[in-house]
Amino acid sequence: MLTKKMESALNNQIEMEAYASFLYLAMASWCEQQGLEGTSNFFYRQAAEEHDHMMRIFKYILEMDGKAVVPSIDKPPHEFESVQALFADVYTHEQKVTGAINQLVELSANENDHSTHNFLQWYVMEQREEEALMRTILDKLKLIGTGPQSLYFIDKEITDINSQAASQGEEA
Ligand code: FEO
Repeated sequence: MLTKKMESALNNQIEMEAYASFLYLAMASWCEQQGLEGTSNFFYRQAAEEHDHMMRIFKYILEMDGKAVVPSIDKPPHEFESVQALFADVYTHEQKVTGAINQLVELSANENDHSTHNFLQWYVMEQREEEALMRTILDKLKLIGTGPQSLYFIDKEITDINSQAASQGEEA
């Protein structure tokens, strides 16, 4: 059984994960229009992952006899200055999600809700991995720079990172 406060906070997180899914879908669209096919595929996979993050919470609330609410989602941005700016936005967004997860963990402890506290540990790990992945990508983008062939090499690099992340996902 969830407290009303916990149920409401988890429903807010559903909205945040759903927004992330739409944001990454918008980024996939922009990348595809720029001819960055590998980067676009990376974001299609990220969008699907965020949808999974949303569904896990949705199902958990119901399993705990609570009410899972389908959120309305704000329209994400569809224009980005550059691929570098786009990944900087992603990193900032993931840091924001980590902050929200940490607050949920804190609330579950305050509410003496061991089940939700336990459930949230998966998200703590996931956020650590997502932030590390985005930092790796930002480091690579810095190394590649903004020279004439840079977009080609960036897309190639993200394609490799995406294949690795996808195969790790299959193993998990
Ligand atoms: Fe589910 Fe990337 O936050």
